[in-house]
Amino acid sequence: MKKITIAIDGYSSTGKSTVAKQLAKALGYVYVDSGAMYRAVTLYAMQQNIISKDNFDVNRLVSELDIVKISFKYNEQLGFAEVYLNGTNVENDIRTLEVSQNVSQVAEISEVRRMLVLQQQQMGKEKGVVMDGRDIGTVVFPDAELKFFMTASAETRAQRRYKELLERHEDVSYEDVLKNVESRDLIDSTREDSPLMKAKDALEIDNSNLSLAAQFEKIYVLAQNAI
Ligand code: C5P
Repeated sequence: MKKITIAIDGYSSTGKSTVAKQLAKALGYVYVDSGAMYRAVTLYAMQQNIISKDNFDVNRLVSELDIVKISFKYNEQLGFAEVYLNGTNVENDIRTLEVSQNVSQVAEISEVRRMLVLQQQQMGKEKGVVMDGRDIGTVVFPDAELKFFMTASAETRAQRRYKELLERHEDVSYEDVLKNVESRDLIDSTREDSPLMKAKDALEIDNSNLSLAAQFEKIYVLAQNAI
């Protein structure tokens, strides 16, 4: 069977990674969470005090990028690859609301994008990959054989993210989560470099009223037809 590249882009918390993971597993493909890479760079900046409460030293982050090593290691038990920052597993640390509140500013920096996009293209060069993010179908793999663009109402998305953070025992309010989802969407879709947008040839899926199973079924059938 021929191997293809599947790009899944869309707004924050549209459930891209859930369906991307399921799809990769069903097809025997590699799943790459590109957002985890931007989150890991953000975590680095926070750990090094490059980002603090009211300061962000962009120049320092850019000058230290060559020592920020992001990698993935497959976790057999979880069934997907976890992200590592300079050799340390940061899969949980990158999912906090605090990282979410800083990540879109980091993702605006062209030098950061250039470094991560190169790595993403490298990871997908053999095809047989499902990658989710914001610019996968437009910038990273403009020639991907199959592209999805996921949407859902901001409230639906904030509810999902809020539930996820509570399950992780984070002390957050729904209002803060909603605010974060909305502000990330705004920054992500209006930035100069690689803004979030639907690729011309992407199939749009609004999953506000779709169950996870129904959404997976729809995407899986389309993927099988494309292979
Ligand atoms: O997918 P996730 O919500 O974890 O992504 C976190 C952030 O990383 C996004 O809000 C966006 O700012 C950035 N991102 C990006 N390009 C990608 C993936 C993520 O700019 N391909």
